[in-house]
Amino acid sequence: MEYYERTVLRTHLSNKNIDHDLRRLISNLSKSAQYIAFEIKKSLRGDTENQNTYGEIQLKLDVLADTIIKKRLSLETSFGVKDFASEEQENIINIHPDKEEMSKKYSIAVDPLDGSSLIKSNLTIGTIFGIYSGSIISGKPGRDNLVAAMYVMYGPETTLVYSAGKGVHEFIFDPAGNWTLKSENIIIPEKGKLFAPGGLRKDWTDEHKKFINDLEEQGYKIRYSGAFVSDFNAMLKNGGIFTYPALINKPQGKLRLLMELQPLAFIVEQAGGMATNGLENILDIIPKKLDQRSPIYIGSKHEVQLAKKYINGE
Ligand code: AHG
Ligand code: MN
Ligand code: MN
Repeated sequence: MEYYERTVLRTHLSNKNIDHDLRRLISNLSKSAQYIAFEIKKSLRGDTENQNTYGEIQLKLDVLADTIIKKRLSLETSFGVKDFASEEQENIINIHPDKEEMSKKYSIAVDPLDGSSLIKSNLTIGTIFGIYSGSIISGKPGRDNLVAAMYVMYGPETTLVYSAGKGVHEFIFDPAGNWTLKSENIIIPEKGKLFAPGGLRKDWTDEHKKFINDLEEQGYKIRYSGAFVSDFNAMLKNGGIFTYPALINKPQGKLRLLMELQPLAFIVEQAGGMATNGLENILDIIPKKLDQRSPIYIGSKHEVQLAKKYINGE
């Protein structure tokens, strides 16, 4: 592709006939990601630690990323955001209290920094966004409430992958300061050679152990970085499976449905892959609370179907 032919994110959204408010929203969030990328580079010079509401280690940058996203949304005047939910907040936030509730079309759930424990080792981390058409806790399964999902990776290059239900597309943040189209209509390979197994082996269920043994026997290679977003991206590009399973003492696993799992499940399905908790499709789950967790098997169809067989004891 020649330089003058490159498509930027805004143009791409408009060419895809994405709803006007949704376009503005995706652009707004992509801008926040640019600022977060900048802050991450700054923080590599040193950071401080404290605890977040879920009792896990939270680096200062998590809060900063959350604040950047909220602030930029609150400055948006052309439309209102319905609910804003973040991994860094205990409750839903009303970003635009002055706007008519009826006029607010979209809600957002975000993991402002995924894989934040990796910052100090200079490994790739990211941000995950889910855009919902109704309230965050709507009584509907994710499939009927999610309208778009996006993730940004702060790696050797800053990249953005989004789907608004019309395929999966990847952009790269270029030196001129634009999100430039890198690949369109990404399809995940039907079968891969990689696996990313979360949790400790000693805490896995027997069914899960058997599944992982099978992959190992078949010669699958392990790729587990500690950032869901990066490991997922590796599967999207190469094929294979990411899993953070039910653990013996944590039957719901570790990862969050609204901020992590359903957004990436939306993207994987758009790319022709699958996501399940072993028994139920991730997008068929009805989120009942903000902090809801679920086991996850996500990636290529072949491996996810194999996981389902093992988890169902077949
Ligand atoms: P976060 O940084 O948002 O808390 O998420 C970290 C998550 C996920 O990205 C990753 O796959 C997993 O936690 C890693 O957990 P373990 O360290 O237990 O493997
Ligand atoms: Mn996370
Ligand atoms: Mn996080």
